[in-house]
Amino acid sequence: MSIGYPWIRLRRLCQIMRQNFAKCCEEKLNAQINMELKACHQYLAMAYHFDRADVSSPGVHGFFLQASAEERQHAEKIMKYMNKRGGSIILSSVPEPLPKFTDALTALKHALNMELEVNQHLLEVHALASKQNDPNLCDFIEANFLQEQVDGQKILADFIRQLERAQTDLGDYLFDKYMISAGMHNSVAK
Ligand SMILES: [Fe+2]
Ligand SMILES: [Fe+2]
Repeated sequence: MSIGYPWIRLRRLCQIMRQNFAKCCEEKLNAQINMELKACHQYLAMAYHFDRADVSSPGVHGFFLQASAEERQHAEKIMKYMNKRGGSIILSSVPEPLPKFTDALTALKHALNMELEVNQHLLEVHALASKQNDPNLCDFIEANFLQEQVDGQKILADFIRQLERAQTDLGDYLFDKYMISAGMHNSVAK
């Protein structure tokens, strides 16, 4: 018996359950998974930069650590969905993150740019799903991602503005204390 036999059978099972799921949507969703993992990796690098003894910003550390965990959850949510639609998950290598930031303001600006990039890609997934007449994929993106992205981007923009106004060492210190209980998604849509 060929070693490949069980895999071929499993692939056929996926093909049997697959319905109205275009190859281009599958590829775009794989790109989205990899973008979420890239963001997860970048936030993790940021979190542990701000945990260094010579930086010591526990609030910013916790905020980015939580953001990293959320990005991983996003990736896994799409992976789960991919399997429901009978697609194949293809993970690529994750790019090396930026390891250092001069201050919290620079890091937050980088985070906002990254979120805008992720959101742009989500909008492209949605547009492609509409073009391919795939209402299930449109609904999945709308229900799970679009509003959360916009909420998170607003929180980052608010933090950037508040930190710009507090640009002194004392302001930076107080801002970090303020961030200890903050999250990108836990204080939204109240
Ligand atoms: Fe995300
Ligand atoms: Fe995000």
